Amino acid sequence: MKYKNYSNKYIIITGASLGLGKALAKRFALEGCNLILLSLPGEGLANYSRMLANEYGVKILHFETDLCKGENIKEFADWVLNQKVQIAGLVNNAGLGGSALFEQTSISLIDTMLLVNVRALTLLTRYFLPALKAQEHSFILNVSSIAAFKPMPFKMVYPASKAFVYSFSVGLGEELKDTGVHVAVMHPGPMNTSEDNEARIGKHGFMGKGAWLTVDDVADIGVSKMLAGDKVIIPGVYNKVIIRLLKFIPRIFAMPMIYKVLSKEVFSESERQSI
Ligand SMILES: NC(=O)c1ccc[n+]([C@@H]2O[C@H](COP(=O)([O-])OP(=O)(O)OC[C@H]3O[C@@H](n4cnc5c(N)ncnc54)[C@H](OP(=O)(O)O)[C@@H]3O)[C@@H](O)[C@H]2O)c1
Repeated sequence: MKYKNYSNKYIIITGASLGLGKALAKRFALEGCNLILLSLPGEGLANYSRMLANEYGVKILHFETDLCKGENIKEFADWVLNQKVQIAGLVNNAGLGGSALFEQTSISLIDTMLLVNVRALTLLTRYFLPALKAQEHSFILNVSSIAAFKPMPFKMVYPASKAFVYSFSVGLGEELKDTGVHVAVMHPGPMNTSEDNEARIGKHGFMGKGAWLTVDDVADIGVSKMLAGDKVIIPGVYNKVIIRLLKFIPRIFAMPMIYKVLSKEVFSESERQSI
């Protein structure tokens, strides 16, 4: 596949006011793409849209809504389709995770994670696919995680939801291979998205820091590789090596290793020694 140029076409990006979504918006603006940005209400998306439009000379539409509700997803899709602009890309970035014991996780957090990570991503893909197919070339870029490749304790439903994103994306990509719609899935490792995240990864010491990338680096790798035609994108050499290794280590050895590393996120040192 040749490096594709989507300048002056509209790209939809969810979760665009924070972290990786914000960096992806900037990276696509740098490519000269017009943007349709979505975030939760009250996250400063209007200001960010104005700043990007001024700095990169692109057109930006923005919409604030909570993707947990099915009616909001439909309202957003109808609003976008009514703009009568050429939609050449959908970036399903919105998603949430964290670390906790499953039994101590609130029902509402489990529900939100499944609704945003799985249902919203799937329904948005379905709503926008006809518009994407109407273009000569277009793409869907779904954001998964390195957590998609092995089951993990202490991560609630997050790894399972990201395994869904991987499976759904690769399957759909195959189904659409004879169309102009390119489907890619990106699997970032830990990124500097929040102080909480930095503190959590800091507990892994050398192991965690080795995998660490900035959101700008991940956005740059993700967009360049997707435009070059890659289907499964794993940013960072360290992350690629870890995933390769985990693939070959049998589950009965891998799971206790993963338990040991991730238990640092939910138990104190003294609690871990008494386990
Ligand atoms: N952080 C990491 O280390 C890491 C590692 C691997 C994969 N990822 C994945 O990368 C993606 C971005 O993560 P991040 O860490 O940059 O995000 P983040 O800073 O934790 O923020 C969560 C993102 O999801 C959006 N979001 C959450 N709940 C939403 C809802 N109910 N409705 C609409 N949007 C909602 C947020 O939108 P707003 O912009 O409105 O706040 C925000 O962009 C996610 O899919 C995440 O799973 C992150």
